[in-house]
Amino acid sequence: MKKSVLRSKLIQIFKKHRLSKKHSAICADYLIKAELLAAKSHGLTRLKMYCDRIKKNLINPKPKIKIRKINSSVSHIDADNSIGFVSADIGISQAIKNAKKTGIGLVGIKRSGHFGLSSFYAEQAVKKNLIVLCFTNAPPALAPYGAKKSLFGTNPICFGVPTGKVPFILDTSTSIINRGKIRRANKFGEKIPFGVALDKFGKITTDPKKALEGTQLPIAGFKGSGLAWMVDILSGVITGSSHGGKTKDPFDDFSGPQNVGHLFITINPKIFIGKRFIKEINKNINLVKKLPKAKGFSSILYPGERKNNLYKKNSKKDISIPQKILNEMSNLNAV
Ligand SMILES: NC(=O)c1ccc[n+]([C@@H]2O[C@H](COP(=O)([O-])OP(=O)(O)OC[C@H]3O[C@@H](n4cnc5c(N)ncnc54)[C@H](O)[C@@H]3O)[C@@H](O)[C@H]2O)c1
Repeated sequence: MKKSVLRSKLIQIFKKHRLSKKHSAICADYLIKAELLAAKSHGLTRLKMYCDRIKKNLINPKPKIKIRKINSSVSHIDADNSIGFVSADIGISQAIKNAKKTGIGLVGIKRSGHFGLSSFYAEQAVKKNLIVLCFTNAPPALAPYGAKKSLFGTNPICFGVPTGKVPFILDTSTSIINRGKIRRANKFGEKIPFGVALDKFGKITTDPKKALEGTQLPIAGFKGSGLAWMVDILSGVITGSSHGGKTKDPFDDFSGPQNVGHLFITINPKIFIGKRFIKEINKNINLVKKLPKAKGFSSILYPGERKNNLYKKNSKKDISIPQKILNEMSNLNAV
C-alpha cells in the first residue's frame, strides 16, 4: 500500500477512536516509521491492540497532558494515560528544549503507555545535535536473575549521538529479542529463534505461545537482568509510574491503564570540548571501522547504520501488509 494511502487510513482509524486529528497523525506516522525500519513487531501488528485499549477506556483518547517544570533542565510530565506515542513525542520535545537552554535535559513521564521504538524519540534529539538516552519500562517478560517468575519488562536502553552523518543509535531490549517479535510470531503462526525464551516449565522453546506463557531470556545472563532492573528504576520508580512487575501487558491485561514510565536525558555534546566534538566522534568511529575485519565481514557497522540503510531502501517502496492486518484495519475503520 502507498504510504500516503496508509497514512490517511490510519489517521481515519485513530480519529474514529476519538483521538484528535493531531494525535492521530502522530500515531500514524510512528506506526509507518516502524514498518519502514523493518520493525514489524512495533508497526501495524499493534494497531488493533491500541484501538482495543482506547475502546475499553484504558488509553485516554483526550488526555490532558501536564508538563511540570522542576527547573530549567528538568521537567515531569503526567501523561493522563495517553497513548504512549503522544506523551513521548511531547516529552522528547521538552527534553530537547531543556538541553538547548542549559546543556542538559531530563524529562520523566508517568501514566503513559507503550510508545513503540525508543529510537523514534532518540532520533529527534540527535537531529537537533544532542546526545540522548531513552528509557521505558514494559510489562513482565523476564525473570530476574535467580527467580522463577517474570517480573522485569524487556525494558529497552537507547543511546544516540550525532556524528554529522548517519546518527549513531543503539536501541536494544534487555531481553535477547523484543516481546513484539514473539507476539507477532504468535499472530502469524511462526516459530521464534532457539534460545531466546523458556516455557512455563523452564525449558527452551521455539513456540511463541509457550514463550508468552513462560519467560524471555535476558541479554548476557545476570548482567541483562541487572540492566532491565536499572531501566525499571529509571523509568518506573523515579518517575512515579508502575514498577516491580506492575506495568500492565497491553495485549492481555485489561484491568487498568498500563501506567508505563519513560525517562529521556538529552546532553549538549559540546559541553566539555566545544566544537572539537564532531571531529573527535568521527575519529572514534573511524578507529573502529578501520580495524581488520573478522571472517565473513566486509565492513564494521556502528549502531544505527543498518537501520538507516533499511529505512532508505524501504522508503522507496510501498508497504506490504498481510491480509490478517488488512482485515483488522477494515474492521477498525467500520467502528
Ligand atoms: N516500547 C517498549 O516497551 C519496548 C520494549 C522492548 C523493546 N522495544 C524496542 O524494540 C527494539 C529492540 O528490539 P531487539 O532487542 O529485538 O533488537 P534489534 O535486533 O532490533 O536491534 C538491537 C540493536 O542492535 C543493532 N543491530 C542489529 N543488528 C546489527 C548488526 N548486524 N550489526 C550491528 N548492529 C546491529 C540495532 O541497530 C539496534 O541498535 C528497540 O527499538 C526497542 O526500543 C520497545
